[in-house]
Amino acid sequence: MKYFQGGENMEKKFDKDREARVSGSSNTFYKEEVKITGDRYTSRNFMERELSKLWSKVWNIGGWSRELEKPGDFITHNIGRESILMVKDKNNNVKAFHNVCPHRGNRLVHVDTGYVKDFICTYHGWKFNYSGDLIYAQDEEDFPQGNPCGKLKLSEIPCEEYGGFIWYNMDKNCFPLKGFLGEVTKYIDLYDNEGLKRVYHKVCEVPFNWKALRDNFCESYHLPSTHPQISDYYDDDYKNTDFELYETGHNLMKMKGSLPSLRNPETFEINEKLKADLIYWKLNPSDFDGRAHLVRERLQEQKKKIGKEKGFNHFKNLPNAWLTDAFHFNIFPGTSITYTANVVSLQRTEPHPTDPNKSIYDHWGLALKPNDSELVASPEDMVPWEEVEKRTVIFGEETLSDVADQDLERASAQQLGFHSSGFNAAYLSGQENRVQQFHNFIDRYIYDR
Ligand code: FES
Ligand SMILES: [Fe+2]
Repeated sequence: MKYFQGGENMEKKFDKDREARVSGSSNTFYKEEVKITGDRYTSRNFMERELSKLWSKVWNIGGWSRELEKPGDFITHNIGRESILMVKDKNNNVKAFHNVCPHRGNRLVHVDTGYVKDFICTYHGWKFNYSGDLIYAQDEEDFPQGNPCGKLKLSEIPCEEYGGFIWYNMDKNCFPLKGFLGEVTKYIDLYDNEGLKRVYHKVCEVPFNWKALRDNFCESYHLPSTHPQISDYYDDDYKNTDFELYETGHNLMKMKGSLPSLRNPETFEINEKLKADLIYWKLNPSDFDGRAHLVRERLQEQKKKIGKEKGFNHFKNLPNAWLTDAFHFNIFPGTSITYTANVVSLQRTEPHPTDPNKSIYDHWGLALKPNDSELVASPEDMVPWEEVEKRTVIFGEETLSDVADQDLERASAQQLGFHSSGFNAAYLSGQENRVQQFHNFIDRYIYDR
């Protein structure tokens, strides 16, 4: 597969016009190799190509490392029609297997998480150890082709732990995770990943194709109209936002925080959120009356200075911008991870097993603990700094956080529009170039470009 070719089939003049209008400080521009039409979100054929050519070839996050503490602890992760089993082995390494019994194809493990001494298939009782070796088969002498014990194994796939996450890849010939993540690791390596706990975890089947929400996370153009409530704390003006788009398919948006939007007439007025930040970081809000735009840089200096005292040793490693801004990574294809200085959120959509009009939405909140508080921020509220179990919720019946609910609602309405014969193809602004990058990369995978 040639990942890095440009879109030779594009008309040169059109490219030049668009390139001239790339927004914010962006390191590159992706050309319109692919028209973003509605059928990409509704077609069963397209969905099948994605399952067989894309999802089976990329590194996915299977779980959270803290879930596997001791040998025998396991988790499963379902994606499309596949199920993956991950277990901590006797040497404290995590291994991943297709969750299927090699005898007659029964699903081996039927729960999300747990501990076992051996994996025992419910159908005929075959037993497997943590390395996936078959160690017991009833009537082992009765196999004309030879005793299966010592011969058959679970189907093992590449698995690595990195950044607090457990990653797997269904392609046994894939290149290593660090190569797949590329530039993203230069940032994640700076963070205190070991110190994070997962304090929020909700999963929900949602009524739209997985890409609808991925597109949303690949642009901040929707913020003023879809999330107007954040403009008092984040500068949602693209002209003031930095974008990095990588040739690995991933991208990064650095959205300035502790800075009211430059679109907003109240940019210079101190508000309650900024005031709370300043007080927490031992600064005087009245020093910033009418000068709220100076808070961000002053906070950065102060966090560098007293971050350690507050319990955040890693602040000394972070670039100043990361101390106040949201570093929002889109990990191709399905995952967004937003790192602020001491709180992280992960949101992803994964394909539904059979229906292109549905997907599985997964929302995690991760946090580092400050020295002076037992509570930490989660996507919904302040919560104890404790690992939580996954909650599966029904769409529309329970919140998935204010901001997420707004995005999920838009994606649901968009899915209806994708079926309309009145919709031709997306007409993207410069600041939505990451959406173009995302779709270009999908086609590079599914059409072997
Ligand atoms: S299918 Fe698993 S033991 Fe028979
Ligand atoms: Fe959004």
